[in-house]
Parts: sequence; structure tokens; C-alpha cells
Amino acid sequence: MTYKMDEINAIKSRISRRQFDGQALSKELMSHLGDKIVAYNHESGLSIQLIEDAGRAFNGLRKSYGMFSGVKSLIVLKGATNDLYLKEKCGYFGERLVLEATRLGLGTCWVAGTFDKTESMFKCDENESLICVIPIGNSPTEATTKEKIIRSLSHRKSKPYERFINNRDLTELPDWLSAGIKSIMLAPSAVNSQPVYLELREGQVSIHTPDKKATDLVDLGIAKLHFELAAGGSFPRGNGVPFFKSKEKDSFESEF
Ligand SMILES: Cc1cc2nc3c(=O)[nH]c(=O)nc-3n(C[C@H](O)[C@H](O)[C@H](O)COP(=O)(O)O)c2cc1C
Repeated sequence: MTYKMDEINAIKSRISRRQFDGQALSKELMSHLGDKIVAYNHESGLSIQLIEDAGRAFNGLRKSYGMFSGVKSLIVLKGATNDLYLKEKCGYFGERLVLEATRLGLGTCWVAGTFDKTESMFKCDENESLICVIPIGNSPTEATTKEKIIRSLSHRKSKPYERFINNRDLTELPDWLSAGIKSIMLAPSAVNSQPVYLELREGQVSIHTPDKKATDLVDLGIAKLHFELAAGGSFPRGNGVPFFKSKEKDSFESEF
């Protein structure tokens, strides 16, 4: 597969796309994405699926309120209902797939609400829950006028940098932390609500979400992935957990 960019540039250039060309993905792309999904399901315990022809759940006014057109392929994010971290994991691994798709030049959009969930393709096993879906495919290079209008309607004003960090130490932030904050500012979130923020207390960075809306924990998983990639390190699963910075000097701060 030929990548058009690295993960950091994918974080910077991704925006939600709601217009697709209605064509099936090539066999090569389906198999590449299928392999990634097998690996992520193995790592996470989720049961993510790639559906080749899911247009009937989206296309048409009554399905997605007319917000989407030309949807064909779809990533379905689901897993065991009793998994404590189900939503967060769907966010984290779903966003891995979104960034992978962006690197390959494909359009994507996270979707929790605006599709027909009653379609038989979304039927889950008894002990499983469907969390979100992500249409994936070729989109016009530039956002269309219709996409721009929908974006302006479904996109709250972005929060300023200061709202993403509660700096109890009142110190100047190191470059890696500043890079991580900027990467969270670029993370997709439901209606651009941007519910995830960081705390710096006694030199320790932790990540939080109020967990009030049904999608807040999905947004937490997405934001964790962005922060890890930009700042270099990892979070354990959970809300309010500390960040562990990698020892090796391998951060991307200069790119933010
Ligand atoms: C968990 C989640 C659920 C979302 N649900 C929908 C949805 O149901 N319909 C929709 O059109 N967009 C949906 N979005 C896309 C957001 O509106 C979009 O990510 C946000 O406005 C930020 O815009 P951007 O992705 O272009 O940066 C969702 C995003 C996330 C992360």
C-alpha cells in the first residue's frame, strides 16, 4: 500500500467527509483494512467489522437526514456489552482506522447517530453492543458546498487551547505536552463537543472526560490515541488516568 502521509500529518489533515463516490473499495484496500481490523480485534477484544456494501443504511433522506451521500463501505465498531472499556476502545481503535484511511487518501466520518440502526447488517450477538460506525471511501478532493454547510451545522465552535489543560502547577508546558494538546484539539468528537481535557498536577499529566454524554468515552479513546502519537508515550485504559511518556526521544513536537 502506498501511504500519502505519516500519522501526524493524517491527524492534521483529517476532517469528517460526508460525500463519497458510491464505489466499492479495491480488493487490495479491502484486504489491507481487513488485516488491520483482524489485528486490532485481537489486541482489543472488540469485534470490529468492515462491511463492503452498507449504502442502504445511509443513503437517502430518511436514513441519514440527507447528511451523507454515496456511502458504500462501512467500519462497524462493536464489542462485548460487559467490557468496562468498550466505548473507549472503540474510540481508540476506530481512530487508528480513521488515520490509516486518511494516510491512504480515503475519506471517513465518525457516526453515532445519523444512520439507520435497524438495518439487519447491524444486528449484534446477544452480548454485544454497537457503538459507532465509520463510512469509508473515496471523497472529492475538496469538501463540497453541501459538506461545508453540514459541517457548519454539526460542528460547535472549537475551544481555545487553554481549555484543554488544567495546569495546577502553573508551569510553562514542555514541547511534547504542547504538541499533545494540539493533537487533541484536532481530534474528531461528537458535534465537535471536545469533552476531553488534561490535568497537570505535581508534574503528572492525566486525561479526563466528564462522561456525561453517551459519546464522551468514545471521544476519550480518540483523544488518547492522538495524544500518544504526538507526545510519544501511552495511557492505560480508563478515565482520569496518568500519561506515561516514552523514554526514547521520539516525539513529533516540532511538527505541531
Ligand atoms: C463519537 C462521534 C460521533 C459522531 N456522530 C456523528 C453523527 O452521528 N453524524 C455526523 O454527521 N457526524 C458525526 N460525528 C462527526 C462530528 O460531527 C465531527 O467529528 C466534529 O464536528 C468535528 O469535525 P471534524 O471531524 O471535521 O474535525 C461524530 C464524531 C464522533 C467522534
